[in-house]
Amino acid sequence: MKDEILKLLKENNEFVSGQDISDSLNVSRTAIWKYINQLREEGYLIDSVTRKGYKLIYTPDILTYGEIAEYLETDYIGRKIIHFDSIDSTNIKAKQLAAEGAKEGTVVIAEEQTMGRGRLGRGWVSPKGKGIWMSIILRPNIDPIDASKVTQIGAAAVWSALSKVGVDAYIKWPNDIVLNGKKVCGILTEMSAELNRINYLVIGIGVNVNINSQEIPKEINNIATSIKAEVGHDVDRKFITAEILNNFERFYNELIKYGSIKTSIEICRKASILLGREIKIITNKGERRAKAIDITEQGELLIEENGKIEKLISGEISV
Ligand code: BTN
Repeated sequence: MKDEILKLLKENNEFVSGQDISDSLNVSRTAIWKYINQLREEGYLIDSVTRKGYKLIYTPDILTYGEIAEYLETDYIGRKIIHFDSIDSTNIKAKQLAAEGAKEGTVVIAEEQTMGRGRLGRGWVSPKGKGIWMSIILRPNIDPIDASKVTQIGAAAVWSALSKVGVDAYIKWPNDIVLNGKKVCGILTEMSAELNRINYLVIGIGVNVNINSQEIPKEINNIATSIKAEVGHDVDRKFITAEILNNFERFYNELIKYGSIKTSIEICRKASILLGREIKIITNKGERRAKAIDITEQGELLIEENGKIEKLISGEISV
């Protein structure tokens, strides 16, 4: 109901009377007052004048459903968004909700993460209001062995969203998006599964959007960047978030309906920063050098080392 009231206020640039809201949404005047106050707490400035009603004066830059919905074209991905002002990690929360039965497509978004998690036990810097820190809950009926395909879908979805706002990035297989040679987005896919059945997948996406270059910690500013640091101005987090979800649903439907990730792989190939280049593969046994040849229809990286072709299903790569 809160989102419905917000929508109504947004559609009318003028005062909307309590009676009109009450009539069109079938909600009591007291309830309206309660929701208006909730919106104010979220940062909306709403004028209220006796006998005139309510008028929206200012909309905060937050990634709630009410703010993203106007750009959302999905059927089920992101139709339920659980939004936090601050949380330890959206992946942790999403896993907890998934274990409690949350529906496929539920998205957890936070303005800030105090314990953002990266791959290989690393952290993920997630300052308030400056990025997209979100996790999507999925319940695909696929073999657990194919779970990493969802990461390729995520990378393709983020890359396409950035491309739509004119940001020319690359994908570094398997799960990074890089801009001017530095990482701007990371993806962390986590899974709960039995031997041949996935209970749920959580795909965590972190995009550094409006972080100022001085705010990027010194220890990582040679390898990490933000869109703002590269393009020189703020970009619309709401639109990008919705676009990621729109693309994600399209690409993910292809996987669950036809068992294919063709569209995502085409994007991962076309936007790859690795293909055709000498790469370093970092494993726990040390580093190896090889040439990146292709990304297969299954999402594996095809490499050539001393004339021998090999497929990687995951890995830490540098160029
Ligand atoms: C990586 O190491 O590249 C993966 C980073 C993933 C970060 C995102 S931010 C939203 C979600 N919640 C987390 O704690 N991590 C992921």
